[in-house]
Amino acid sequence: MSIPPPNIVDFEIKETLLCGPGPCNLWPSVREALTKPIISPLCDEYFKALDDIRTGIKYVFQTKSNLVLAISGSGHSGMETVITNLVGPEETLLIANRGIWDERAYNVATRYGIKIIVHRIAHNTTFTLEELERQIEVYRPTALFITHGDSSTGTVQKLEGLGDICHKYGTLLLVDTVVSLGGVPFFMDAWGVDAVYSSTQKALSGPAGISPVAFSARAAEKIKNSKHKTPFYFDITLLAEQWNCYGNTRYYHHTLSPPLVWALRECLRQLSIETLEKSWERHAKTTRHFHERVQRLPLEFFVPNPEHRLATVTTLALPKGYNYDDVIKYVEEKHKITIFPGRGPTADKSLRIGIMGVNSTGAVADALADALADALQALVKSSL
Ligand code: GLV
Repeated sequence: MSIPPPNIVDFEIKETLLCGPGPCNLWPSVREALTKPIISPLCDEYFKALDDIRTGIKYVFQTKSNLVLAISGSGHSGMETVITNLVGPEETLLIANRGIWDERAYNVATRYGIKIIVHRIAHNTTFTLEELERQIEVYRPTALFITHGDSSTGTVQKLEGLGDICHKYGTLLLVDTVVSLGGVPFFMDAWGVDAVYSSTQKALSGPAGISPVAFSARAAEKIKNSKHKTPFYFDITLLAEQWNCYGNTRYYHHTLSPPLVWALRECLRQLSIETLEKSWERHAKTTRHFHERVQRLPLEFFVPNPEHRLATVTTLALPKGYNYDDVIKYVEEKHKITIFPGRGPTADKSLRIGIMGVNSTGAVADALADALADALQALVKSSL
């Protein structure tokens, strides 16, 4: 054989407290769920697990819609599903751009020949409903894409009322809730959201790789009447048959990963036991406490207006003279806490610190604030 077998050797994996913008650590019960048996994608237990997941997703998105399921893939698969099923080539997508995920939506949409209008604002703030209405009124797009919580900037967008505005002009509202779901209030039906996707590795404290999505009745109608072809893997009509959204169809589309099915089911079970209200309250309280501690350090919030700050991810600028990578390395090596540098608009401008899911506790907030204080002191001394 010309290619010899590789020598794949085991290596030690150091576990840290994951306090970047995601992934975050797993709930212990989710870790356990990952080791449940691999089952056939045709057996009763499998379809029972999918049913449980659909019920859980309806709860976390707060929707009565039946077109609710999970896509096999990271949050990006949810984005691609939502965009490609609802906006055809030559139709117009208005992208409200304030961070890297909106850039990604742009990248996805351009590959499918969708016409794109981008409305940009400063990255450390959020949109007013009035400015969004002005854009929708002028361009009359098929859909508006907007990110609820943005992990690249640490902002949270007000969405209440936006659905009504979109519908006034025949526009669908598409929302990314990857880093907000479970950590920040979100109400799909009450806010008139037509399509939403999320992911598991953020405030749900699960592994990445399976992404909840939901479509409103208005979106379902649009899909039914669409003439354009969607990618097979993300075809929501076929996936709805696999997930039994409209009866017991049990269609085989692709083989889902059973560990991820069990893990998502457990994430949703955890959140249902805690309840959304308590989870939102816990995230708000923990982050408030972290921000109070941070205010005593020589750090600056990247997002000046506290009302625009996201409860799950905080973006913090270092004082002059400090290097972002040095601080991140110090915090990881000395304190075993992983935090992230900025990404996209915040690259070299901020740290990104996520306190979410299982990690949203006062003890983690204190450990982080202590680690940052220590890093600022140690690194300034070493640079003198
Ligand atoms: C990934 O989701 C990130 O925010 O870096």
